[in-house]
Amino acid sequence: MKTRYIGNFLKVSSLGLGCMGMTHAYGAPISSGQIRNLISKAIDLGYTFFDTAEIYGTASNPHLNEEELGHALAPYRDRIVIGTKFGIHFDMNSSLVNKPLIPDARKDTILKSIDASLKRLRTDHIDIYYQHRQDPHIPVEEVAMVMEALIKDGKILSWGLSEVDAETIRRAHAVCPVSAVQNRYSMMARHYESVFSTLEELNIALVAFSPMANGVLSGAYNANSQFDKNTDYRSSMPQFTEESMKANRTLFSLLNDFANRKNATMGQISLAWMLCKKPWIIPIPGTTKVERLKENAKADEICLSNAEVSAIDKALSEMKMSAVFGGSKIKS
Ligand SMILES: NC(=O)c1ccc[n+]([C@@H]2O[C@H](COP(=O)([O-])OP(=O)(O)OC[C@H]3O[C@@H](n4cnc5c(N)ncnc54)[C@H](OP(=O)(O)O)[C@@H]3O)[C@@H](O)[C@H]2O)c1
Repeated sequence: MKTRYIGNFLKVSSLGLGCMGMTHAYGAPISSGQIRNLISKAIDLGYTFFDTAEIYGTASNPHLNEEELGHALAPYRDRIVIGTKFGIHFDMNSSLVNKPLIPDARKDTILKSIDASLKRLRTDHIDIYYQHRQDPHIPVEEVAMVMEALIKDGKILSWGLSEVDAETIRRAHAVCPVSAVQNRYSMMARHYESVFSTLEELNIALVAFSPMANGVLSGAYNANSQFDKNTDYRSSMPQFTEESMKANRTLFSLLNDFANRKNATMGQISLAWMLCKKPWIIPIPGTTKVERLKENAKADEICLSNAEVSAIDKALSEMKMSAVFGGSKIKS
């Protein structure tokens, strides 16, 4: 796979691997053996950038993802980049499948989080440490000061923010330079194009999460797709309903047309569109399947010209499409 840069010094594969779905949000966790196999295949395919978070677990083991990755990534630690996240936990009293998030960016909480993540990930440093969501009670400047101290201590190499606007990015960056912003970005969720000029000006990478709109842009799902109501967020995501599948026909045919033209799959076009847009966008599609790891990696071989990217943007702006999942509720 080709490579890209996060900030000036973190070299990563042009697509990262989103590891959340291996243990969280998309049904029951896959086994440790499956995770190790997936990671080893990802390494063979050239993935060098792995995304996790301290909260990607289950009710019985809230930190399962980091634990599994700690084992699976250990043999490759010296040649990969790990991103993990702090600053939220779930409201376990909620009956929703996608439980509300409770932000907590107090210094003491962060200091406990980093040590626990380092232990679970079996490493002495995190390459990029993101604040998962803003805490309305703690100014981002205070969080930035904690990040500065963690960088000085060598516990993290760089830091980032997730789901943030341009003003928050600037305030944080003024205290301790931000290397990456991890925001939702896909053909169905383009609202964060509003931060592009800020990212470009400040030399901050966009790590695009849910880049395939939780999988729907691959065209692999239809109105009959079934998702477990207790463990799979897709059971309550608006883009997976029967009506949405109908409402998104124009979007699917746009993807299909480009897929035919480029001898690619719809999923690859959804990723190539953002890869070809800016050299500092790094999508992190998630999958639990080796075949899809391969398919997604090949998105970086597809060339869409500036004119083609602009034509897609124009078509997306003009077409009607369904609502798309916008994230779990934040409880303060
Ligand atoms: N910062 C944040 O707040 C935040 C929030 C959400 C996610 N993330 C990160 O972003 C990563 C990716 O986001 P995401 O997993 O929500 O969404 P996504 O990458 O848009 O979609 C993942 C889903 O698409 C399916 N899929 C992947 N490749 C496919 C292909 N080629 N064909 C058909 N289906 C395919 C996967 O199913 P299979 O497993 O069955 O292949 C999975 O259910 C996560 O793993 C996580 O690391 C961050």
